[in-house]
Amino acid sequence: MRRRDFVQVSLAVAAHAVLQMPAAQAAVPSRRIPYGSAVRGDALVDDYDYRTALAEHCQLVVPEGGLKWEVVRPSEDRFDFYEGDKLLAFADQNGMKMRGHTLIWHGAMPGWTSSIHGAKAAEKAMSKHIHTVVGQYKGRIPSWDVINEAIADDPRGSDHLRPNLWFENMGKGYIETAFRRASEADPQVQLVINEYDIECVGETYKNRRNALLRVVRDLRDRGAPIHAVGFQGHLKGQYEIDKEGVSSFVAELKAMDVDVLVTELDVIDNLLPADEKERDQVIAGRVTDLLQAISDANPPTAILTWGITDRYTWVPMWFTRDDGRLNRPLPLDRDYKAKPMMDAIKRFAARA
Ligand code: G3I
Repeated sequence: MRRRDFVQVSLAVAAHAVLQMPAAQAAVPSRRIPYGSAVRGDALVDDYDYRTALAEHCQLVVPEGGLKWEVVRPSEDRFDFYEGDKLLAFADQNGMKMRGHTLIWHGAMPGWTSSIHGAKAAEKAMSKHIHTVVGQYKGRIPSWDVINEAIADDPRGSDHLRPNLWFENMGKGYIETAFRRASEADPQVQLVINEYDIECVGETYKNRRNALLRVVRDLRDRGAPIHAVGFQGHLKGQYEIDKEGVSSFVAELKAMDVDVLVTELDVIDNLLPADEKERDQVIAGRVTDLLQAISDANPPTAILTWGITDRYTWVPMWFTRDDGRLNRPLPLDRDYKAKPMMDAIKRFAARA
């Protein structure tokens, strides 16, 4: 990190000194799959045990919200890198790498972007955003989610893309443009298209994998710089993983020289048994099935969970349990104790 940035972060974050944790990890063996977690900026500052857990278990971090438009772009002319810089400082100080999430998504958009109209204006706004944000972290963020959740919820025929600001103004070419702009800003970075609901058994999951393959194939045919597909991996615990479907999807990507990684793994457990031991076993089983199915075709370049502790998870925002029990979607429980899910991930990452 450059001195100027370091000083900026030090001044901006009162709690800077405590962000640096005692060296907790040995050098990562080169053949290991790096494990990481999404991080909440407020908890990073407020919760010592959270920082300790991240430093102990992770080789990678990604901001859960800190690099989304609504945080980075409070207004058209203003960029705010406070959250991104804070997490990158923590990563640097603890020997981790940081991923970028996310450049183009329908969610978390600030209100002012609704006044963007027309192809020209949309392309200009997209280019400015991607060049500035990726450029800000050039050489320091090795992997970016360029496009997030482009596939329609229930893709059919030619209606396979989700309507969003960019699609409505620029047509389907918005995806290619975004990848090209990101590559211009940092030619060394791994550029990822990130998607959810592509892991389980069922017609919709299959259709979503096929729609995504179609997008990736089109990008490759056009020579666009796309390097990997991100399996978000917000697994619904009640559904089986489609092991064959996932393996053949990954194999088709590999044949196009496109890697995969797991970007947002957690297991949504609102419909799983109440008994915690039993629930934790089902969760670890789903995680193992997904990682195995991917690896059978091509091992993931990274495995990240969407949070590390059940204390901080998005899952109860949408999937609270009817019995009033708390969700347990992540590798550590609320007291930072490792659950079978963490063992499953670690076993898997180590044997790669
Ligand atoms: O910042 C306020 C906080 O001050 C307040 O106390 C709290 C009260 O509810 O709200 C806080 O903001 C919320 C934030 O999550 C907390 O982390 C936002 O309202 C809420 O919109 C935000 O939701 C995030 C969501 O994306 C939208 O950006 C989730 O945390 C985050 O986990 C979720 O992440 C998405 C990925 O980006 C894409 N894939 C799906 C995944 C899960 O939905």
